[in-house]
Amino acid sequence: MNPTADRYGVFGHPVSHSLSPFIHAMFARETGQDMSYRPFDVPPEELVARVRSFFSEGGSGLNITLPHKLAAVELATELTERAAHAAAVNTLALRDGKVLGDNTDGIGLVRDLCDNLGVVITNRRVLVLGAGGATRGVLAPLLGLQPEELIIANRTADRAEALAAAFADLGDAHGVGFADVGDDAFDLVINATSASLSGEMPPLPPAAVGPQTVCYDLAYGKDATAFVKWAQSIGCAQALQGLGMLVEQAAESFHVWRGVRPQTASVRAALRERAALLGGRG
Ligand code: ATR
Repeated sequence: MNPTADRYGVFGHPVSHSLSPFIHAMFARETGQDMSYRPFDVPPEELVARVRSFFSEGGSGLNITLPHKLAAVELATELTERAAHAAAVNTLALRDGKVLGDNTDGIGLVRDLCDNLGVVITNRRVLVLGAGGATRGVLAPLLGLQPEELIIANRTADRAEALAAAFADLGDAHGVGFADVGDDAFDLVINATSASLSGEMPPLPPAAVGPQTVCYDLAYGKDATAFVKWAQSIGCAQALQGLGMLVEQAAESFHVWRGVRPQTASVRAALRERAALLGGRG
């Protein structure tokens, strides 16, 4: 690697499991960009100082992953509209001496669903499980595709209602508890709870999933996640894990930094083999 190459990296804690260095190294090779990309284990109490020194020492851009995505909002001098909607930042980029905070998670999900998997969202019934940060990050692009109905179901129904109300200007979303999702199967069910990360399954009534339902877990694992196994066991159309979203959000960050959009197919194929070793969420 050229020592004068532009420097990028990912800040997380822990970060050793991160697939981002592998993904960005493949993107850089494929697009001929002269850049380095390294993982940095940064504990929360060091985040502010480490981001500042990374940029003051000539770094060009960062990905920000768990647990820093909310805190990184405060580190940006400017936020993109999608980062402001998400109230979370997963990408920092140096622009004219300022640090731009962006969020590419939502567009990453939509690209994987629509472009890679051919899932239709417009005029379809969509159910999103969970009302935490991950859901907040994907609501704006989902609503932008104008589903017939978008329901947010959460263990704590109040949080789902509050989130739906916060996005009312972007589209019609309804927040409910799991028991109130109704008896009609949805076209698409997205698991944005953190339950998969601890091997658990949200208490979703089986009637929400039918033979036409596509089920998508934002998390991914060595084996199928609990949600994917459950969805397959009750006969959904397709049950997918979030590796494609991980690659697509990375591609969008790469584009923000370099102005070049990498192809993702070969990286997604390579990761499917490599992910047999690792698990996590973007
Ligand atoms: P994240 O950034 O991963 O979204 P978060 O903001 O802490 O993290 O939100 C976690 C989400 O997963 C919440 O919606 C949480 O439900 P509550 O709001 O009721 O706590 C949901 N969640 C976590 N574990 C769950 C489980 N075992 N079953 C169902 N929902 C779960």
